[in-house]
This record gives sequence, C-alpha cells and structure tokens, in this order.
Amino acid sequence: MNLNFRDRRVLITGHTGFKGAWLSLWLERLGARLSGLALEPRTERDVFVLSGIGQRIHDHRADIRDLGAVLSIFAQEQPEIVFHLAAQPLVLPSYEDPVGTFATNTQGTVHILEAIRRTPSVRAAVLVTTDKCYENREWVYGYREVDPMGGYDPYSASKGAAELVIAAYRRSYFCQPDSPAVASARAGNVIGGGDWAEHRLVPDVVRAIESSQPLNIRSPQAVRPWQHVLEPLGGYLLLAQQLLEAPEHYAEAWNFGPLPHSLQPVRAVCEALFEQFRQRCPDAQHHSGWRDVSSPDQPHEAALLMLDISKAIHRLHWQPVLTFDETIALTADWYARYRTEPVWALCHEQIRWYEQKWRECRRW
Ligand SMILES: NC(=O)c1ccc[n+]([C@@H]2O[C@H](COP(=O)([O-])OP(=O)(O)OC[C@H]3O[C@@H](n4cnc5c(N)ncnc54)[C@H](O)[C@@H]3O)[C@@H](O)[C@H]2O)c1
Repeated sequence: MNLNFRDRRVLITGHTGFKGAWLSLWLERLGARLSGLALEPRTERDVFVLSGIGQRIHDHRADIRDLGAVLSIFAQEQPEIVFHLAAQPLVLPSYEDPVGTFATNTQGTVHILEAIRRTPSVRAAVLVTTDKCYENREWVYGYREVDPMGGYDPYSASKGAAELVIAAYRRSYFCQPDSPAVASARAGNVIGGGDWAEHRLVPDVVRAIESSQPLNIRSPQAVRPWQHVLEPLGGYLLLAQQLLEAPEHYAEAWNFGPLPHSLQPVRAVCEALFEQFRQRCPDAQHHSGWRDVSSPDQPHEAALLMLDISKAIHRLHWQPVLTFDETIALTADWYARYRTEPVWALCHEQIRWYEQKWRECRRW
C-alpha cells in the first residue's frame, strides 16, 4: 500500500497539538496541500513551534466551539480530506472543567461534522476519538468496535458521546453514494517526541529529569496500551486513503491499538524511559527516579483498557510495526536531540525511519 496524498487538499483540526503536528509533518512529506485549524500551541517547545510547520501550511487559529468560525475556514480551504484531532484530550482536567470538555469534544465534533456536511469538496474524514470511548468493564480482553460506548469520567464520556454523534451524522446525512465517507478512529495512549502535556507520563519523566525532581506516579500498576505516535497516525492515513478509494467499505469505526507486547504497566514504561535517558544523557543519571503516590482518594481512572485491532489488521491491512523497546527508544531519541538539532529535520528523519520499518514489514 502506497500512501498517496500528493496535491490533496487536507485540513487538520488540532494541528498545533502533539499528534496533529506530527500528522502535519507526515502529510507535508507526502506532498499534501495542508491547512490547519486549532488554538495556539501550548508551549514554545511544542513540535508545531519548533518544527516551523505553521509557516509551511495555511495555519488558522479558531475555536471549534464556534460553528461560524469553523464553517468559514472550511469554505475558504475547500478540503477534500479532513482529519479531526482538536480536543481537550486529558482525563484529570476534564474533572476540573466538564463543561469545557463536553463543549469542545462533543459539541465541537458536531460542528466539524456540520462543516463537512456543508462543504461539498469534502470526500473523506477521519475523526479521532479514543480507546476510552468504550464502556469500560475492566475486561482482560480487548474492546471491539461493536462494543457499547460509555465513559466514567467527563473526558471519556465526551468522546463516547462524540462517537454517537459521528454515527448519527453518518446514518442521517452521509448515507448516499456521493456522500463524504466519514470514519472514527480509536487509539490508546500514544508517546513520542514533543509531547509536553500535563499529566502524561513521558512529558512528566522529561520534566522530572530536567528539574532534578523525583517523579510522582499515581497508578504505577495500571496497564495501558502504549504506542508510538506514528503508529496510529499511519493507521489514520491508511484509513483516509481507503475512504477515498472504497468509501462504502470503510466509513465506520476503527481501533488502532498496539500489539499485546506493548500492553505494559505505567511503571515499566517509566523505568524503560529512565534507562534510555541514562544511556543517552549520562548527566541525568543521578536524578532519575520515581515514587508511588497512589492514594484511595485520587479521582477514578480505569485500571485496564485494551483494544482489539483484528478488524484493522484484516480489513485495512494495518498493524503496529514497532516493538515496545523501539517505541521507547524512538521517543527518548527525540527528547535527547531536540535542544541541539533542527526539529523539522529530526521529525522528518524519524518519519522516514518509521516508513522504512513499515516497508520492511511488507505492509506498504
Ligand atoms: N495523546 C494521546 O495519548 C491520545 C490518546 C487517545 C486519543 N487521543 C486523541 O487524539 C487527539 C489529539 O490529541 P493530542 O494528544 O495531540 O492533544 P493535544 O492537547 O496535544 O492537542 C490538542 C489540539 O486540539 C486543539 N484544541 C483544543 N481545544 C480546541 C478548541 N476548543 N478549538 C480548536 N482547537 C482546539 C489544540 O489547540 C491542539 O491543537 C485528541 O482528539 C485526543 O483526544 C490522544
């Protein structure tokens, strides 16, 4: 499978964020004509800022809670393909601001779907939700795309609700042969260079090393499906391409999780990262460490959550290609180099390396 986006008009929401910036860089490499719609980047060392990708695309600042602003950017850009990633993506802040989280993640998704409906140029759209959209039964086996939506905390529920909205729009408005093909994509925790979000493990490890403070870990035993950011992004790209080629077969929900070897407890990821940084940055050696601060009073977080990716493997011919060790090493490589090397080139080097891995696995 060759990814063919050359000269395609692609609009990404959330392109100033972690996943959106990597997706922008990958699509730039594939020759797409890109536009982006998002809020300001969060920090001066986000991939979006350091890579300078904003200067190479049509870069719009807009709030997806504002339907008028969204419609106007769609009308201006006339995209053929839409990747919707803009969101309030964190569980803990969703407890502090449920109203903002639902407004952005659920109503914001309504606005993106409405813009797709009213913009005839759109042929395909991939709307990104999360593995947390499922009603979590703390099963030991993976959730399949047909399992019920749910969500204990406001973030998860806002994404479960976004999935219901996507399904309703698909059935109500996108069911004709010439309708845009709209799919949703559910992935788990992703890691990779340039994520600086609060309450996420990799940025927390990097901040702990930089500040010489031990890292406080809330749920060291919690098992999560860890993935490098390029793995689900490759899935989103494949899915968008298939939506263009055979819309009737792909306009539905898709899981993009890791293989079982990447299901690891938080503590394993933490220790592997500290070890990588110890090898790459010997100066950091003396202040690498973490402590368990789990408490019975902390807000509820699901202990176990896995995705079944059989559907993507068999029907989309997508599969993760990195081992757990490669995922950790690629991530640590970025953080070890971003201060001293041009980040645009660093990201493109990592994307090229990842594409090569994909080819070796004969999946392209
Ligand atoms: N990072 C993960 O581990 C992970 C896991 C599962 C799902 N996801 C999903 O992937 C998507 C991207 O996540 P991320 O980690 O890159 O998040 P991020 O916080 O790094 O980026 C979020 C992006 O959304 C934009 N945004 C937020 N609120 C907005 C608003 N009201 N209007 C316009 N733009 C707004 C931000 O400006 C930013 O560009 C999200 O939908 C998230 O729920 C992420």
